[in-house]
Amino acid sequence: MKIGVPKEIKNHEQRVAMTPLGVQLLTRDNHQVKIEKGAGEAAGFSDEAYKEAGALLTDSSAEVWQQELIVKVKEPQATEYHFFREGMILLTYLHLANEPELTNALKEKGVTAIAYETMTKDQSDLPMLTPMSQIAGRLSVQLAAHYLQSPKGGKGILLGGVPGVENGHVVIIGGGVAGQNALQIAKGLGAHVTLLDVKPSVLQKIEEVYGNEVVTLMSNEVNIAQAVQKADIVIGAVLIPGSKAPTLVTEEMVKAMKPGSVIVDIAVDQGGIFETEDHTTTHDDPVYMKHGILHYAVANMPGAVPKTSTIALTDVTIPYVLKIANSGIEQVAKQDTMVYSGINTYQGYITNEAIADTFNEDYRSLSKLL
Ligand SMILES: NC(=O)c1ccc[n+]([C@@H]2O[C@H](COP(=O)([O-])OP(=O)(O)OC[C@H]3O[C@@H](n4cnc5c(N)ncnc54)[C@H](O)[C@@H]3O)[C@@H](O)[C@H]2O)c1
Repeated sequence: MKIGVPKEIKNHEQRVAMTPLGVQLLTRDNHQVKIEKGAGEAAGFSDEAYKEAGALLTDSSAEVWQQELIVKVKEPQATEYHFFREGMILLTYLHLANEPELTNALKEKGVTAIAYETMTKDQSDLPMLTPMSQIAGRLSVQLAAHYLQSPKGGKGILLGGVPGVENGHVVIIGGGVAGQNALQIAKGLGAHVTLLDVKPSVLQKIEEVYGNEVVTLMSNEVNIAQAVQKADIVIGAVLIPGSKAPTLVTEEMVKAMKPGSVIVDIAVDQGGIFETEDHTTTHDDPVYMKHGILHYAVANMPGAVPKTSTIALTDVTIPYVLKIANSGIEQVAKQDTMVYSGINTYQGYITNEAIADTFNEDYRSLSKLL
């Protein structure tokens, strides 16, 4: 199959959809990979490395988009819609529920659009999102520790303390993938950690791993208020699949925190859990101060570490790129639930029920179209 990897053009996006290793695996199976020059540069992968792996490089984005299967990281931008054509297969993060125009363009042009974020074996397991939550979770504590330093506006404490000086206190709300990864780094840096979740099974699992080293609490208004007041760092890592994040930390609770403390809301991409969050921030200007508390609210945290993110993303996507390239999309969709559930538009129809409902559009079951 002929595969195209465009350079990402979304603001601040520095990842690329394929590493040279991914190219190598595809060309070994006699597929052709055309990649836009400079596509991997910001993530630390040179044109030379891609060439050595067997890719064809081109200056022309149009040429890349002419390939049969387009592999990307972020949703196509409006200036890319004119590249869509019937029969094109597009594999990328799409988040179509927020993208009415893109949904329309994909549908009208008859693109087979596969969204990483809806690829699932069962609703609770989203393997294409897991690596990004792992990265965001680990980054959250690392970043917050940085902003606790006084030149950054923080209260001037070292998270791990030193002998004779108490260590800092991290409160993590939400103990799923991002929360557990935040916990791992917070413990590694020597912090006191309190983790809250609504699921007893999550709290139990954490207690089994960390014993008394971590305080686990049921997530409710009273426990959140008490924990947040004592915290130097509060991490928001809640997810209610398919819903906007609930507001769990009120303005009053934030006001009760000590000045120079740091909030990192990983869940900001779903609306955030802090009432004091009035806007998302970017990597260029990641924090703002409100009630004396530093708020970090970047919605694409993995973009700060594009090399790690690119490798982690490719690790999970390449097996599916290979499957589609080797057997064709129809065949794979019939056999593989992950690919089947990922197909959001096909032959001019919306094949994801939730997205069709969002836009009050007709839904077609993919199984009837295949
Ligand atoms: N900002 C970024 O760059 C970035 C990157 C990756 C992921 N995310 C976001 O991070 C969030 C967490 O993702 P995840 O993969 O860890 O999800 P997950 O499903 O693995 O974990 C979410 C956890 O939240 C818990 N939860 C639900 N309601 C709660 C409540 N009221 N109080 C406390 N806990 C509650 C759930 O029980 C679950 O354990 C998502 O919104 C995801 O989109 C953001």
